[in-house]
Amino acid sequence: MSVVKTLYDHLPDGTPVHLFTITNNNEVSAGIITRGATLNSFVCPDRDGNMGDIIMGFDSIAGHLASGTYTGEIIGQYANRIGGGKFTLSGKEYDLTKNENGKTCLHGGGEFSSAIWKAIIIDDNAVEFSYHSPDGKEGFPGNVDVTVTYLLTDRNELEIRYRAVPDRETVINMTNHAYFNLGTTANGDVLDHELMLNCEYFTPTDEDDIPTGEIRSVKGTAFDFTQPKKIGQDIGADDPQLIKCRGYDHNFCVSGESGQLRPVAKVSDEKSGRKLEVMSDMPGVQLYVANFLDGSEMGKDGIALQKHYGFCLETQFYPDTPNHPEFPQCTFQKGEKFESVTIFKV
Ligand code: BGC
Repeated sequence: MSVVKTLYDHLPDGTPVHLFTITNNNEVSAGIITRGATLNSFVCPDRDGNMGDIIMGFDSIAGHLASGTYTGEIIGQYANRIGGGKFTLSGKEYDLTKNENGKTCLHGGGEFSSAIWKAIIIDDNAVEFSYHSPDGKEGFPGNVDVTVTYLLTDRNELEIRYRAVPDRETVINMTNHAYFNLGTTANGDVLDHELMLNCEYFTPTDEDDIPTGEIRSVKGTAFDFTQPKKIGQDIGADDPQLIKCRGYDHNFCVSGESGQLRPVAKVSDEKSGRKLEVMSDMPGVQLYVANFLDGSEMGKDGIALQKHYGFCLETQFYPDTPNHPEFPQCTFQKGEKFESVTIFKV
């Protein structure tokens, strides 16, 4: 087990960005950079023992800065969307940065994902990233002290632990926005990957991709992944929910008790023989299949990132929860800790 710190790159203003590479005793490794506490690589063997990087990322900071895809980044203060870019807490309305079509707040206005995080090596297999979110940043109330710890075990589990403590009542929803491709992006899209989701319901969305409030059964729909199914099997189905999003871009409700670590998803790629298991204690998971990539962004090794070249499983509170009292709640009081864990096991 080891953690190695290197200089990754510099921001245009000269600020250094560091890379922490955690390697376990199986030579599996995770690379995380301090900008956005971004998971920029996750290298693991295929069935023949050939190592390959199973997530999208970039070779230099220019790629991250030019990208609008939140690739591998930690997103917050509120991951996913808040409808109308506003919400009310204890009778007070908060106006947020409307960074999507001037209408909605997406991924907290990009705050956590574009920050330079402080990092310390806390063990021979773990790095802790921390960030202070000032009161009112992107419109969110409260100073919030945030830490995200990446830990890699010899069971090939990459564990991401989230912790945030506000100094007044606020909303918190954090996740990692990694795009996985178990065959590596050098080998094309993920439509042949088999996906199983521990989710019997999902939250359909309106024309602004905001949940309508309906909790819809997946039974008999293209959204049914309760048994392993190719991601591509129904992605082009004649379903208005899929047509408007060009594929899956939806929150699924994870079965079982939220707050308890439980299985979320299993993915396998027949061609490479690689598998991924996801576990989390969060109530929801956004399945997004890189529907809006169009080849204009160059990923690692100069590979153009095309539509469906990756899938995201963003464990989280449901989108727009601050405006949906019927959803599992994401409001935290002064001094109340938000704590959560998600594990990606290869
Ligand atoms: C959203 C997509 C969005 C993407 C941006 C995902 O979490 O669900 O709608 O395009 O983030 O990279």
